[in-house]
Amino acid sequence: MKAGAGHNVQVQAHAGSAASYDVVIRPGALDELATLVPRVAPAARYAVLTPDRIAPLYGHRVLAALGDAGLRAELFQFPDGEHHKTRDSWGALTDALLAAGYGRDSCVIALGGGVAGDLAGFVAATYMRGIPVVQVPTTLLAMIDASVGGKTGVDTPAGKNLIGAFHPPRLVLMDPRLLATLPPEQFRSGLAEAVKHGAILDEAYFQWILEDAGAILAGDEGAVTRLVARSVELKAAVVAEDPLEHGLRAILNFGHTVGHALELDSGYSMLHGYAVALGMLAEAAAGERAGVTQSGTVARLQQALLACGIPVTAHGVDVAAVAMAMRLDKKAREGTPRLALLRHIGRCAPAADGRWTHGLPEDVIAGSLQGLAQPPRAV
Ligand SMILES: NC(=O)c1ccc[n+]([C@@H]2O[C@H](COP(=O)([O-])OP(=O)(O)OC[C@H]3O[C@@H](n4cnc5c(N)ncnc54)[C@H](O)[C@@H]3O)[C@@H](O)[C@H]2O)c1
Ligand SMILES: [Zn+2]
Repeated sequence: MKAGAGHNVQVQAHAGSAASYDVVIRPGALDELATLVPRVAPAARYAVLTPDRIAPLYGHRVLAALGDAGLRAELFQFPDGEHHKTRDSWGALTDALLAAGYGRDSCVIALGGGVAGDLAGFVAATYMRGIPVVQVPTTLLAMIDASVGGKTGVDTPAGKNLIGAFHPPRLVLMDPRLLATLPPEQFRSGLAEAVKHGAILDEAYFQWILEDAGAILAGDEGAVTRLVARSVELKAAVVAEDPLEHGLRAILNFGHTVGHALELDSGYSMLHGYAVALGMLAEAAAGERAGVTQSGTVARLQQALLACGIPVTAHGVDVAAVAMAMRLDKKAREGTPRLALLRHIGRCAPAADGRWTHGLPEDVIAGSLQGLAQPPRAV
């Protein structure tokens, strides 16, 4: 099959360094993997790390392509799901690589959603003090968020992503055609992060998502490729400004302070993107109440999220419990909750101290959470 039109985005790999990696976004790109990978990550052996759910879908295909190109490669599977993004899985995978005799001249190919990217990326970051990794994301969330930026890691009983490392990939290969097998609600969950990218950085993009949501949700190849490419460009620009998360990168957390509390309260049964969507609404409402965010912003966010088929009311959510989860989170961080806030759609609001997060009184956040339990206002 001929590869369709695509995009290349360059991402700066390390703070202050000229080193960068390419993000290739092209329908059919998976068929180019065996050609592209050895150019940027020549290795004696390739370890394809993938969850057991993705192995039959794409793992065997990747392995065959590498083999046909004369490259030495094997598949290493781990159990699917967030609750396997653990040190145990990291230990099992690194043991398997050691037992198979993988050396420092090896390369990891991380194939799967954000869990695979984080876990396999962390294996690569630590194996023999670090070997190259190529990210091949297979969910919309992993394409537009998790695989770009170099963050890797695992969860612990004390919290998510607490053990990890920055380990930029050599290449990120995105084939939007892989999204055809993704469950629709996983797709919509990823879409919430694209709405976030528009909301914090690009009003025209936000508006385009709203207007073309039908084509995007129908899986139109051109629309989905454009979506992935623009989100990656926006995230890459932020990462380039702030590779190690010292400042600007905080704007990517818009919707996430409240979102994380919602996820925690649901015992992580709520999809991340759905929690972030409600989080964006609550944080935008808090911003409007605090006079930082232009009024009408919440209504526009609701309109875009609804167009994308993403729930905008928190029916069944115990708002008091979520507020408590936020307070606990705040205690854990020893400070007031600080939120990235919008000025208006397409732009974030810097705080008076020049930082990209604002400390807001708890009652303002709690009040905006309360509003989530109500049906949306007509727009
Ligand atoms: N490193 C970062 O910067 C960063 C950023 C955001 C999120 N994350 C992490 O990403 C993870 C969430 O990622 P996710 O939402 O991709 O979850 P996931 O990796 O668990 O994937 C969701 C489900 O979809 C399945 N799946 C993946 N691709 C598929 C496909 N093409 N067809 C059919 N099924 C497919 C997966 O096997 C899994 O069951 C979290 O652990 C989060 O912490 C990391
Ligand atoms: Zn997120």
